[in-house]
Amino acid sequence: MDGTKDKKYMIKTWGCQMNVHDSEKIAGVVSSLGYRSVEAEEQADLIIFNTCCVREHAELKVYGNLGRLKKLKAERPDLIIAVCGCMTQQREVAEHIAKRYPFVDIVFGTNKIHRLAELIANVKPSGSTIVDIHEDQEGKVIEGIPADRGDSIKAWVAVMHGCDNYCSYCIVPYVRGREKSRKKDQIINELIQLGQEGYKEVTLLGQNVNSYGKDLEGEENFARLLREANRVQGIERIRFMTSHPKDLSQELIYAVRDCHKVCRHIHLPIQSGSNSILKCMNRKYTREQYLELAYRIKAEIPDISLTTDIIVGFPGETEEDFRQTMDIVSRVRFDSAFTFLYSKRRGTPAASMENHVPDHIKHERLKRLLDLTQEITAENNSVLKDKIVEVLVEGVSKTHADRLTGRTSTNKIVHFNSHTHLIGKLAKVKITDPQSWSLYGEEIHESSEN
Ligand code: 5AD
Ligand code: SF4
Repeated sequence: MDGTKDKKYMIKTWGCQMNVHDSEKIAGVVSSLGYRSVEAEEQADLIIFNTCCVREHAELKVYGNLGRLKKLKAERPDLIIAVCGCMTQQREVAEHIAKRYPFVDIVFGTNKIHRLAELIANVKPSGSTIVDIHEDQEGKVIEGIPADRGDSIKAWVAVMHGCDNYCSYCIVPYVRGREKSRKKDQIINELIQLGQEGYKEVTLLGQNVNSYGKDLEGEENFARLLREANRVQGIERIRFMTSHPKDLSQELIYAVRDCHKVCRHIHLPIQSGSNSILKCMNRKYTREQYLELAYRIKAEIPDISLTTDIIVGFPGETEEDFRQTMDIVSRVRFDSAFTFLYSKRRGTPAASMENHVPDHIKHERLKRLLDLTQEITAENNSVLKDKIVEVLVEGVSKTHADRLTGRTSTNKIVHFNSHTHLIGKLAKVKITDPQSWSLYGEEIHESSEN
């Protein structure tokens, strides 16, 4: 590559917030090498695909996109192509990419971001694919990777990595490894710095944040971490995800209740409402325990918003099992639900279970579930009509230049007309038109509030 010309990179990210945050770290590393970000693949000297493998659909999209790069690489042999993330953490996938897409220069694992500069330096034009996915034996969290954050108001902060739960359908524990918590001081120092840099909201990330600290010496746990985060100056809102119902302690409920910066929102994946399916999923709770927990949370924090993930068509799911899911959704009345068709993941216990549900039944159930969850979301939102909510303004609406967009503490999207000076600030908005996906409202000025 011509050392004098300014170098450009482009990162394409699939998957969860942890991946989005990993991409910010990748951006941090490549920026420090002198690359600057561009949107279009055609303009980039370095293209990085950060992949997801939680469902087959995500993997297929990556392969489709990779196929397209072949032509680009043929035209510009200097172009460096790297593929990383959860997909490549599976050895057979990494080998498949190296064999089937030999124009890929680097395949690296989720825990190899700190080595990216070295990997890029080792790329030789028309050399073979460099594969570096070896699991970090020490199991330590690598600190100090600079993040080039995609936003100046909201920031992602990883508090732990990996997952030890081994839900039978899920590939995450195999690709992200065992649970590893970051040291509390490292997290708090990052939050302090973000507060000083002007960030207003942080989302604490982990596949299972409630087991934060279990692998650390001492008494650390997630509830204590939240209480300490609540004291960091400058930060006005704290979110966290994801919580496993089996680990959500009463201490955590109290911490959410007591900490004024902690948002009134808990994402609590239920996955299924049927006890026999929950057992086959290895979720380690029953529908009764989940319901009891949801009611306990709502009793302690009445304005809480509960959201969830649900899988439809897990192997062996009968119509009656599915009705149990519909039933629990009607009881808990989630503010929103992410619904997924079960996707067979090689190497997971569920993949070799019997009675896989035919696709047309999965789709039919998904439709019924979506109808129900959307109806409940709309009903929950309609209660907000004429109510005044506090909104952290995130920016100008994508569709209307004179409209601002932000979120409530309960994570609902709000649109209202105002001026850009409010971006990054908390505004009071009266909801005039609550809809299913977002709420429309008008700004309340201090004087008109009284
Ligand atoms: N099939 C469908 N959905 C899945 N999820 C995880 N694994 C699978 C799978 N094999 C969903 C779960 C999880 C969310 C992040 O993705 O609902 O909570
Ligand atoms: Fe996957 Fe279950 Fe871990 Fe979530 S808790 S990442 S669904 S194994």
